Amino acid sequence: MRILTVSGSLQAGSANRALLDMAREVAPDGVEVEHFDGLRDLPFFDPGLDGAGAIPAVERWRQAVVDADALLIASPEYGHSLPGVLKNGIDWLIGSGELYRKTVALTASVAERHRGLKGLAALEETLGAVDAHIVWSQPAVRGPDLAAEVAGIVRRLVDVVSAFSNEYR
Ligand SMILES: Cc1cc2nc3c(=O)[nH]c(=O)nc-3n(C[C@H](O)[C@H](O)[C@H](O)COP(=O)(O)O)c2cc1C
Repeated sequence: MRILTVSGSLQAGSANRALLDMAREVAPDGVEVEHFDGLRDLPFFDPGLDGAGAIPAVERWRQAVVDADALLIASPEYGHSLPGVLKNGIDWLIGSGELYRKTVALTASVAERHRGLKGLAALEETLGAVDAHIVWSQPAVRGPDLAAEVAGIVRRLVDVVSAFSNEYR
């Protein structure tokens, strides 16, 4: 099973990126956790560019999502919404459909439990437009319990994907 992690933050030392690194560390044997680092390479979405010839950064992004059984997205909230770089990445997948019924967990690395909720709600709205299967959407609080919380998110993804593949075996 393969989980693709995606961070809504591009900054060096990102707490969300650190959370995703933690997900790789706590993943059970047999679960491959791979990080997609190419959101910053995507051009601003332009439907006119799509179909006018392959754009390598877009192809890489689409293939990474296709190859994943599930996505784990950790993102900061910017201006009460999701970061533009993440929205741009998702926009490139709307027409091509890679996120359709894809199992996705959303979280935000936060200092306090009530932070990041508007960003997650905006992300849910956007992913709802592509019929992604959202199985988790809660901030994760930085502190001594973070690793256990991240392990819980990974477990949820593994459980959902395993149940799905058993159903269709
Ligand atoms: C320009 C900017 C806007 C932000 N807007 C919000 C916001 O609307 N709500 C919020 O809770 N935090 C907001 N924050 C705080 C970030 O969400 C927070 O610092 C987050 O942990 C950064 O994640 P990172 O360390 O992964 O980059 C903002 C930060 C920046 C730099």
